[in-house]
Amino acid sequence: MEYLIVLIFVLIASIAFAILALYTLVILFYTKVPFVRTPNRVIAMVLDEANIKPGENVYDLGCGDARFLIEVEKRTGANTFGFEIAPWAYFLARLNIKLKKSKTVLYHKNFYKQDLSGADVVFCFLMDSVMPKVQAKLEQDLKPGARVISFAFAIKAWQPAKIIDSKKFHPRASKIYIYQR
Ligand SMILES: C[S@@+](CC[C@H](N)C(=O)[O-])C[C@H]1O[C@@H](n2cnc3c(N)ncnc32)[C@H](O)[C@@H]1O
Repeated sequence: MEYLIVLIFVLIASIAFAILALYTLVILFYTKVPFVRTPNRVIAMVLDEANIKPGENVYDLGCGDARFLIEVEKRTGANTFGFEIAPWAYFLARLNIKLKKSKTVLYHKNFYKQDLSGADVVFCFLMDSVMPKVQAKLEQDLKPGARVISFAFAIKAWQPAKIIDSKKFHPRASKIYIYQR
């Protein structure tokens, strides 16, 4: 009898894991952007350069585990908002927000379908292939004066106000592009 219970439990756990893995693959196929964290030293550099003020609204498009937003909130007093579509990353973000007692507002949503007009600062770390679509979304939604910070991938049609070459600090690090609308 115990064997049967263990067998049923293992079967249910395996099916749940398989469904989650399949769902994650479908989401990855749809977004074409995997969950990779921005290194801590890059977050520190962004915070040194972005001049984020208390009370400003900072959005992370595809916030992963929300570490960037939690750090922004703690260091600047800004209001922080994250959009994350992948279930595993969203779960980690929820957990981090809870553990760090952060006020970050987290949405399990596709950021292309959200209104981004409330943002003073938008941060993203995505992929080259999606940047033209991100550019179109930002041009449609952002208010004049909003800043956009993209780690590693440029918005090629825009003139950056500043480019930070983090390679000075680490040979494998990428550039940080800062734009002003
Ligand atoms: C490279 S990770 C960056 C994570 C985090 N911003 C950081 O810098 O540590 C990109 C994240 O964007 C998410 N993502 C990609 N497209 C998205 C979309 N359309 N809506 C919401 N999240 C998206 C992915 O699931 C992934 O977790």
